[in-house]
Amino acid sequence: MVELVGSTVVLREFRMSDVDATMAIVGDERVTTTLSFDSLTREQQSERIAATIQRAGETPRTEYYLAATLKSDGRLIGFGRLGLTGVRAAKLGGALAADHWGAGYALDGARTLLDFAFGDLDLHRVTAAIGPDNHASIAAVTRLGFVYEGTLRDHVYTNQAWRDSRLYSMLAQDWTPDAH
Ligand SMILES: CC(C)(COP(=O)(O)OP(=O)(O)OC[C@H]1O[C@@H](n2cnc3c(N)ncnc32)[C@H](O)[C@@H]1OP(=O)(O)O)[C@@H](O)C(=O)NCCC(=O)NCCS
Repeated sequence: MVELVGSTVVLREFRMSDVDATMAIVGDERVTTTLSFDSLTREQQSERIAATIQRAGETPRTEYYLAATLKSDGRLIGFGRLGLTGVRAAKLGGALAADHWGAGYALDGARTLLDFAFGDLDLHRVTAAIGPDNHASIAAVTRLGFVYEGTLRDHVYTNQAWRDSRLYSMLAQDWTPDAH
């Protein structure tokens, strides 16, 4: 069971009792429009969380799909994900409920996940694939020191259309914990 504590955000394992709170994220068009999947129904999200909890118990673990909560009162405000790929590598992803945008939670959550990725998990490379119009996410990874590598053409099918992704990467040698 993983619990990662940041300055303002705590990332913890999902519970089935989180389904309703997560609908402010995966059920809100303002949030999902820049994600690689379209808005979900409560039933679909319930199945996704059940599958996430199932995968969290598997060995070897292939992903860390964690609930992002406020350190102050435990409220669920989003999610962060490390999807393990290849050799000592992972894809970083995440989203916050729109009411919590612009408060620095994404930066704190991503830092906490990257400390875990390059620390406990001893990964070498973490990537983020971001829609070209997602200025908030691009600003966040740039702020963290990710390097732009190029554009993946027609990378994801979302909002009934193919979308390119800008690929960013962070290598272990680029990451200095708690220096940000
Ligand atoms: C992307 C997302 C997680 C950013 O969350 P956030 O908590 O608002 O981001 P932060 O407050 O930590 O800000 C991070 C940086 O982005 C900048 N930023 C935030 N919103 C911005 C916007 N709309 N345009 C440009 N820059 C923006 C901030 O100024 C900050 O940079 P700074 O510290 O240099 O000032 C949030 O917008 C979101 O959940 N979007 C929908 C889902 C999504 O797109 N997820 C990412 C998929 S790749």
